Amino acid sequence: MAIDYGIDAPQTLSNLYWRAGTFAAFGIGIYLMNRRDLPGPAMTLMLVLLLIAAGFVAVALYMRRSSQSGKLALRDAIINKIQWTGDEKVLDVGCGRGLLLIAAAKQLKKGRATGIDIWDAGSLSANSQANTIANAKAEGVADRVKVETGDARNLTYGDNSFDVVLSCTTLHELPDAESRQLALEEMVRVTRPGGQIAIFDVMHGGEYAAILRKAGVDQVDDSYKTWLWLVPGRLVVGQKRTA
Ligand SMILES: C[S@@+](CC[C@H](N)C(=O)[O-])C[C@H]1O[C@@H](n2cnc3c(N)ncnc32)[C@H](O)[C@@H]1O
Repeated sequence: MAIDYGIDAPQTLSNLYWRAGTFAAFGIGIYLMNRRDLPGPAMTLMLVLLLIAAGFVAVALYMRRSSQSGKLALRDAIINKIQWTGDEKVLDVGCGRGLLLIAAAKQLKKGRATGIDIWDAGSLSANSQANTIANAKAEGVADRVKVETGDARNLTYGDNSFDVVLSCTTLHELPDAESRQLALEEMVRVTRPGGQIAIFDVMHGGEYAAILRKAGVDQVDDSYKTWLWLVPGRLVVGQKRTA
């Protein structure tokens, strides 16, 4: 059975379905009430409203598909940017239900992958530490995975603690540019010199390369771009400066 890594922005999806239902019901209602007196305009209005409803459904279905299959391709792209030895200590910031965390753990022989999250139910369906641990068990990597509660802006780990620091579609959840900068600086702080960083995000990904360079990351590459949930996104990778 396929593992369930959750649906992103579940509230947005149900809002889209509600709007679709409202437009469709309104259109059909108008037609039924006016079909005898004004059959032509009533039919036209109903068709327009049904078309709008279909648009909302199409967007919702596309967003759902992005979560279920688009993000799997994205996860693989992030994992493939890292040069793995199998001994790494990995941190996934905003791990959700373990999409990237578990894929990273599968690269490890002796290493350990830690995921942190604040478990915001609004950004991922059934988002919880327990569900992430259950997914790690189902994927056979529970012995290599640690899942903790933590805020990206205030990582509780010491400087230079991790060989690889990852994050996928998390930083745009932070309320402002200062918070995103703080989180990026925290990720660099906990990466060891020479360690690798890979961050994918939507909307603000274009801002991250400059912040990472300033915070001490070299060989920054932000050329990988893709669309997710109808929003442009960017993968930024680099290596923490050694001296
Ligand atoms: C869209 S989900 C993505 C989850 C996972 N990375 C994935 O790709 O499936 C965004 C995640 O960021 C987490 N998040 C939001 N703000 C956070 C913060 N300040 N610190 C840590 N995680 C946060 C949410 O709880 C949620 O799990």
